[in-house]
Amino acid sequence: MNPYQRKRRWKFILLGFAILIAGASLWYTNYLVRNISTAERTRAELWARSTQSIIAMPDVNDEYISFIYSIRDSLSVPAIVVDSAENIVTWRGLDSTKTNFDLEADSKKKYDPKYFKNQLKAMKAQHPEPIILELNNLSNEKWFVYYKDSILVTQLKVFPYIQLSLIAIFLLIAYGVFNSSRKSEQDQVWVGLAKETAHQLGTPISSLMAWVELLKSKFNLSDDSMILEMENDVKRLETVADRFSKIGSKPILHNHVVYDVVEEYVNYFKVRVSDKIQFILIGDKQVEALVNVPLFDWVIENILKNAVNAIDNEGIIKIEVKENLVKEQVFIDITDTGSGIPKKDFDTVFQPGYTTRKRGWGLGLSLTKRIVENYHQGSVSVKDSEIGKGTTFRIVLKSNMTYEPTTTS
Ligand SMILES: Nc1ncnc2c1ncn2[C@@H]1O[C@H](COP(=O)(O)OP(=O)(O)OP(=O)(O)O)[C@@H](O)[C@H]1O
Ligand SMILES: [Mg+2]
Repeated sequence: MNPYQRKRRWKFILLGFAILIAGASLWYTNYLVRNISTAERTRAELWARSTQSIIAMPDVNDEYISFIYSIRDSLSVPAIVVDSAENIVTWRGLDSTKTNFDLEADSKKKYDPKYFKNQLKAMKAQHPEPIILELNNLSNEKWFVYYKDSILVTQLKVFPYIQLSLIAIFLLIAYGVFNSSRKSEQDQVWVGLAKETAHQLGTPISSLMAWVELLKSKFNLSDDSMILEMENDVKRLETVADRFSKIGSKPILHNHVVYDVVEEYVNYFKVRVSDKIQFILIGDKQVEALVNVPLFDWVIENILKNAVNAIDNEGIIKIEVKENLVKEQVFIDITDTGSGIPKKDFDTVFQPGYTTRKRGWGLGLSLTKRIVENYHQGSVSVKDSEIGKGTTFRIVLKSNMTYEPTTTS
């Protein structure tokens, strides 16, 4: 299993765990809320029944009454008692500033109608079934006790959501911080390694060039094919060193006709691969973009090499340059008739180290992405792919842009 399959598997396992933990914690608090709610219903019923008993009580001494009242009130949850016409008879556990309701002096009762109406509505929404008090008086009147959850239950209901959201925010921030520091570490490795490679190649290449010149002049071999081949190879080495030095520092971009840059590289490339692979280059021959040619050649090379690798024996590689006038962009679509990429891997192929080839390093496309995004402010993606049919990669460059490199040098 490659590191990316492992990473994906771990992502699923961790996500599963997170869902399990969140689910278990929600289930448990729900269980607690249900238990406390049942206990509160019992308390509300006891309160209602004791109210009923107090009303039915014959005259007893004040001390006894206040004793009964204090027992009753220790049982209560926020409640409102209404008669059958929905007039408030008494209440408890609500905001006392909204009323100066006085049970003894009924005529003086005064309460904020809006507040009580809302409270009653909230109570009915929470517990639609009221506790019914049969007064057993002459008119056989009934009172209805509505009650609502205590603050404790309400807080317990929302607590897990607040807690889980805070944990999620914390984890997201932590992930973001570590991800960006990992990215900047990777940046440093890329840039440092590239600079060092260019530096190490520099000396032997200069000396090889000097040796070739010496051979040419000493033995008068200017037209000798062997010397020309040697010269070509040294030039190729120079190009390689040049690419590495450019990726290790801030490259300079120039305006170029995109089609010409691509055409020149494709012509160089196609003679070096099997002639069973046919190259087709079409598209807009005028549109220009800011590019650094040695680096951009590297981009095209990586994508073309992958296309060649994906083609089993014979096939077609089509390159199309298109201008998107609306967004001032240039599209370079490279389509092959190769093995195709599964949809789930459209993004993964750009990760460093992802490869399906036996002798691949999985670096080609991540380098391509770096060059296009960091040095050309463009983008590269898998536009389309179908297993067994082929793949289209799309590079997008700005056709008319102001250059602001974002790379570390
Ligand atoms: N045109 C394509 N068709 C099918 N699969 C592709 C294509 N281009 C890339 N891939 C897949 O993406 C993987 C990563 O490509 P990348 O160029 O990054 O690495 P590589 O080619 O495996 O190794 P190297 O470092 O030598 O380039 C490839 O191994 C291949 O599975
Ligand atoms: Mg490759």
